[in-house]
Amino acid sequence: MPVLINVSNTLDFNLSNSRISYVFRVSPEGLLEHLHFGGRVEPTANYPSTPRRLHRSCTLEFQDSEHYNLSDVPQEYPVFGTTDNRYPALHAINKDGNSTHVFKYDSYEILDSKPRLAGLPSARGGDSQTLVVRLLDEVAQIQVDLSYTVYAEHDVIARSARITNIGESLVRLAHAMSSCLDMPAGDYDLMHLHGTWAREQNQKRMPVPQGRFALESANGTSGNVHNPFLALMDSNATERSGRVYGTAFVYSGNFAISVEMGEFDSVRVTTGINPFNFEWKLASGESFTCPESLQVFSPNGLNGMSQIWHKFVKEKISPPQFKGKARPTYLNSWEAAYFDINEDKVLELADRTKSLGLDMLVVDDGWFEGRDDDTSSLGDWFSDQQKFPNGIEAVAAKVKAKGLKFGLWFEPEMVNPDSQLFREHPDWIIHVPKRVSSKGRNQLTLDLSREDVRNYLFDCIDPILSSGHIDYVKWDMNRVMSEIGSASLSANRQLETAHRYMLGVYALIEKIVSKHPQVLFENCASGGNRFDLGMLHYMAQSWTSDMSEPIGRLPIQNGASHLFPPCVMASYIGPVPSHLNGRKVSVKTRAEVGFFCAARGLSLNAEDVDADFEELKHYAKLYKDTADDVVNGTFHRVQYDDNEVCWQLTSSDGSKVYLGYFHILSAANLPFRRARLVDIDASRQYRLQDSDLTFGGDALMHMGIDLPYVCAMQWSDAEYLDKGDFASKLFVFERV
Ligand code: GLA
Repeated sequence: MPVLINVSNTLDFNLSNSRISYVFRVSPEGLLEHLHFGGRVEPTANYPSTPRRLHRSCTLEFQDSEHYNLSDVPQEYPVFGTTDNRYPALHAINKDGNSTHVFKYDSYEILDSKPRLAGLPSARGGDSQTLVVRLLDEVAQIQVDLSYTVYAEHDVIARSARITNIGESLVRLAHAMSSCLDMPAGDYDLMHLHGTWAREQNQKRMPVPQGRFALESANGTSGNVHNPFLALMDSNATERSGRVYGTAFVYSGNFAISVEMGEFDSVRVTTGINPFNFEWKLASGESFTCPESLQVFSPNGLNGMSQIWHKFVKEKISPPQFKGKARPTYLNSWEAAYFDINEDKVLELADRTKSLGLDMLVVDDGWFEGRDDDTSSLGDWFSDQQKFPNGIEAVAAKVKAKGLKFGLWFEPEMVNPDSQLFREHPDWIIHVPKRVSSKGRNQLTLDLSREDVRNYLFDCIDPILSSGHIDYVKWDMNRVMSEIGSASLSANRQLETAHRYMLGVYALIEKIVSKHPQVLFENCASGGNRFDLGMLHYMAQSWTSDMSEPIGRLPIQNGASHLFPPCVMASYIGPVPSHLNGRKVSVKTRAEVGFFCAARGLSLNAEDVDADFEELKHYAKLYKDTADDVVNGTFHRVQYDDNEVCWQLTSSDGSKVYLGYFHILSAANLPFRRARLVDIDASRQYRLQDSDLTFGGDALMHMGIDLPYVCAMQWSDAEYLDKGDFASKLFVFERV
């Protein structure tokens, strides 16, 4: 195990691999001062920049320390109450009823690798060391253990905090962040991903404003409004250059990422559970574990940051049993049949799946008792007797007998009021007394903080998976929370409901996936309403968005690629006109946008399959032939604007390079464009498939390849893009 953590006699902590360092120290007052996060800095007795002590008029001085004003001191885990009135990492109401705290260094411990966070998703260890620093507030009788994991091969620092009440009386946690990163004064931009249903993951970049900018969810899911991810960067950073600091939260519920530029222009980034509508009571001896927050540093721009995330997600977040495994190509019944599904239709679709050369048939919504539309039946996880008289397991067996895999949809966390389950257990939902529970898509949220609810769900799902016929599960979740409360919690603990719900969801999923490790789980929440590293810890892939139409998908996949590698993204070729936005797009463009997700298939009925059979078969084969490359390859955003998108995917051995070019609206007399390939071997030659052309890697990277011309009048033999809007071309280069 390499030594990644160095602690000096004067208690300077240096966490470094060969590329990055995270450095902090214990101040003379016993507080943890942050010194550096960025490029590697050797452990030394003297760092050139340390928090300054000088007289400033009109500022406070920390207790008995001269010229020590914490609102200008970078700190590891700042609290409120002395001289720093910025947004803190921890805000607790102590036994004396006040919220003033001073946490002083107590001790530290270095662990090989990385312990799991109990009951929560967290990155795996391995080539890593973990530093746990204990802080104590002796007056309030609260202890904080800060954990930092540094990896030899990943430019990521994993952080979390555990808060323990070591006194006799109750402590109320009002605000318990997982991490704080205090950056020196500078010119920074921030970038985040925002959206809504079917329009998730839009990237937005802006200068860091004076004041406080926050991404938050109070929905009970991490959500599609903001992904729990943010990049802070030097204002001159680009895709490929400049310092970028990314944070992502390994959690799927209410979160808050806050960026605060204070009076002296330093910038504080905190990541954790949203303090709004949250309170946690800690009785004597009890601890609260904050979910994990990840910090990455790249000196190579946003693309450099994405490369670090992609590698980390593949190696340390995703379930290891699916690492590097080609995802089955599939036909999903949703946009093919919606709720109008039955045994005959499944078998008909299975025949199409087979004749197209796809691997798996997925039965989406509509297979369980009475589920003819979205007004009923969620909660009653038994095969519908009319549609599947022999049970869904028997149909699964028939599909499998055709040499296919079989997948099934569940939405375990939900119940319709019109269901047997709700009629029997009306108190099993998230609700508050004496208020009407607001419905979303006609459904209510089951209270998964309750063990009886979790046991019921386990007992429904486990036997179906135990039939041995289910290869894949799409785990859906189609509403956010309202009237948030739990019948199982006392009145003074109701604000714990949303987090207890998430702990319950994780407990149930953990129990199911660990009993059925061979089943491939796909995370879905109306598409991307819970597309986060928490869910991806348990499930190898995620339904990226309900937006299956490729032009609507471009910004979604592009935005998501800042954090997520193609191996966790799922796509399919949907019908035309699109059921989502009415757009008519060729099979080619539908297939080529979807190409850049590792889980690929289609959702078309038998008639639509037959209408485009040969072309679909061609793409099914391409999907199958390239499945290994996409799951293991590296992805680069080559170009992105409102009208043109270029993505590159390079196979893990570098022998194949795929360049997708997508042109949205056509126009007359456009400029000639070219795209420069990224990170290929300059000294090798690359043959362009379906041509006699071979180019040097150096030329492809430094000169770029001519993109096909967009023009309605095609009168020379130059290469043109298909006429009209929504055109695409997939270049395939083979290294020779
Ligand atoms: C959600 C999912 C869809 C589909 C439907 C079924 O909207 O995102 O892919 O599974 O539910 O009801």
